[in-house]
Order: sequence, then C-alpha cells, then structure tokens
Amino acid sequence: MLAISSGKGGVGKSTISVNLAVALAANGLRVGLMDTDIYGPNVPGMLGVDTKPQVDPATGKIGPAEAHGVHIISMGMLVDAGVPVIWRGPMLAKMISQFLFQVDWGELDVLLLDLPPGTGDVQISLTQTAPLTGALIVTTPSQLALEDVARGVKMFQQTEVPLLGLIENMASFVCPSCDGESHPFGQGGGAAAASGFEMPFLGSVPLEPAVRAGADEGTPAILAHPDTAASKAVAQIARQVQQQITSAG
Ligand SMILES: Nc1ncnc2c1ncn2[C@@H]1O[C@H](COP(=O)(O)OP(=O)(O)OP(=O)(O)O)[C@@H](O)[C@H]1O
Ligand SMILES: [Mg+2]
Repeated sequence: MLAISSGKGGVGKSTISVNLAVALAANGLRVGLMDTDIYGPNVPGMLGVDTKPQVDPATGKIGPAEAHGVHIISMGMLVDAGVPVIWRGPMLAKMISQFLFQVDWGELDVLLLDLPPGTGDVQISLTQTAPLTGALIVTTPSQLALEDVARGVKMFQQTEVPLLGLIENMASFVCPSCDGESHPFGQGGGAAAASGFEMPFLGSVPLEPAVRAGADEGTPAILAHPDTAASKAVAQIARQVQQQITSAG
C-alpha cells in the first residue's frame, strides 16, 4: 500500500497517481487506486469513470469501479459532479476507514493512495490506520514546493512510513514552436531534495500539454500518448516502483 503525497497542492499527485497506476496495470500487476482526496476527488475524471460503486447486499462491501485495468474508489463516485463535500475531520476519518476496510478490492499487488496536499486530517487517519508500505513524494522543482516537501517528509518519518522515492513533476518544458527547453519551476531541485532527505530520486516528468489533455479527457497520457517524453519518464518511474513492490514481496 503506497501513499502518493506532496506538501504543496497542484504539483501533480493525482496525475502521477493515475498514470503510474495504469502503467503498473499494463505491466501485469493487479492495481487498486484509492482517491483519498475527499474534497477534491479528481481521480474518476482523470480515468474517465462515471459509474457509481455497487454495494453487495450479501456482504455490504463496496465494489470498486474499473478503468484501464485499475480498480478505483473515490468520493467523486459517491457524490454528484460539482457538489462540494463539506465535512469536518471525524467524517473524513470515517470515509477513509470505509475505503480501506469496506471496499472489496480483491487480490491486489499494489494499492496506490492519491493523497490530498499537505499534512491534514486524511494524512493523520491514514498514517494511523492504514498499513502503508511506503510513500512516494511528488514535487515541482520550485523552492516553495520543496519547502513543503520537508513537512511531508517529517510526517512520514515521525510515523515510520518508509520514503520510497521522490518524483519531480513539471520539471521542464519544450517550446512547441522553437523546440527550446526551459525550466519554468527551476532545475535540479528534486534530485537535491531527494538526496538531502536520503530517499531515491525516481525521475523528472516534463510539463506537456498531452499530460493535461489526457487528465481532462479521462485517458491518461501514458495510454493516449505513450511516446512522449513525459510518458516515457512515467514508464521509467513505474519500472522502479514495480521493482520496489516485487522486492518487498
Ligand atoms: N507533467 C504535466 N504536464 C502538464 N500538465 C500537468 C502535468 N502534471 C499535472 N498537470 C496538470 O496540472 C494540474 C494539477 O495536477 P493534479 O491535479 O494532478 O495535481 P495534484 O497535486 O493532485 O493537485 P491537488 O493538490 O489539488 O490534489 C492538472 O490540470 C493536471 O492535468
Ligand atoms: Mg490531487
């Protein structure tokens, strides 16, 4: 059970989570993806899921949806699109516990957890109740994002969740008209932070319109545009994560 976390919001956790999940499923792993972002559940949209979860009347268990070979559960499947969830901490904790213990995941090789940003109620519930095998940290190379990484790292260290690696997202951009490469959020920050926190650096994913389009259209870029630099970077990250999963047994 791997948590995908970031200090700062909007750095691409959900995008990396869905692409990674689909890549691992394409490699033959049985993959579950739990969207733990109760207030901003983006996973169903990114995977083109618009079904409601089915409850088995005999067992009372919730059946996850399936898309692109990945089993998915998300608050977005339980509420109508565009309707906000307005809950306090204890309700969040209850929902997370239902997702963990009342979903009929079946046999999985890996369950990925897409976290909301920061170190709030959901993270506290998960680190207390979920048997996390490790955490992957997503960040942009910007100084502000990296400052927030430190907070997330401390939380996992305090709760003794192993840090399995850092992924840098939106690290570079190739101009479509001149082919020149630029680094809108800075350069090299991810690798430096990974080495500072003594965790593996798993790679850099460039900023690409195809990644955003894939997320908006419900077909992750790794499937829709597997030959782009971003998809190749995610595939390479997926291979490393797969190795970690298989070596952990
Ligand atoms: N490598 C990329 N190239 C282009 N667009 C990207 C890339 N990564 C993410 N995006 C886009 O950036 C936006 C934010 O990404 P995403 O929702 O995955 O971030 P997040 O960290 O999950 O945000 P939150 O903290 O709100 O959960 C989305 O519109 C997504 O499509
Ligand atoms: Mg998200």
